[in-house]
Amino acid sequence: MMSEFVSVAIDGPVGAGKSTIARAAASALGYVYVDTGAMYRSVGLHCRRKNADMSSPEDIAAQLGDISLEIRIIDGIQHIFLNGEDVSEEIRLPEISMATSAVSAVPEVRSALLGMQRDFAEKNNVIMDGRDIGTVVLPNARVKIFLTASPEIRAKRRFDELKAKGREVTFEEVLNDLNKRDYNDSHRAAAPLKAAEDAVLADTSGLDFEQSVELVCGLIKERL
Ligand code: DC
Repeated sequence: MMSEFVSVAIDGPVGAGKSTIARAAASALGYVYVDTGAMYRSVGLHCRRKNADMSSPEDIAAQLGDISLEIRIIDGIQHIFLNGEDVSEEIRLPEISMATSAVSAVPEVRSALLGMQRDFAEKNNVIMDGRDIGTVVLPNARVKIFLTASPEIRAKRRFDELKAKGREVTFEEVLNDLNKRDYNDSHRAAAPLKAAEDAVLADTSGLDFEQSVELVCGLIKERL
């Protein structure tokens, strides 16, 4: 059945600027922005807190029964609550990024989050970002965009972000981390990162933030 709501899927690798660009585009177009990475990150955070064995899919899947996630939009910004606690900030720590790459490869984790994601899209006009939105979560999305940029540019953006937050990291560490996560995300068996066949490719390598938002908003408007 065709949903009465419009879905826009934005996928792409680490640091392509998906979340900032998608959030700005959603606010410009009056859509609800859904950051699916935050859901995976919250599961990663919970598993780390519980000292789950990150090399054991069984151990990770066993944590799911103790996890309740809730997304609330507060002042237009998505906050994610893990068992009632707002973890929106903590899930951005680099060590959680790595843990998340492991949990997101576990099929039980993916199917648990899939329902929540589809539920959102059934009840709202959404711009949803992630790795598998156009391929798996919302295969009938009205607009699909695969957002990318060169690894060096993505690493530089992530490096600047972390530095601005006062984190002690080197550019090489950030680039290595990013290459590792890209590799994990695109080589896992369950819903790997890849562009949907009907996705439009948007490369933001030579663009600043405003130009990237303009590009994405333009692509969406063109297709609606
Ligand atoms: O977009 P992000 O960096 O917040 O994503 C964190 C991790 O979650 C990343 O390693 C890939 C994974 N992820 C995923 O597998 N599928 C999604 N739809 C979103 C994120």
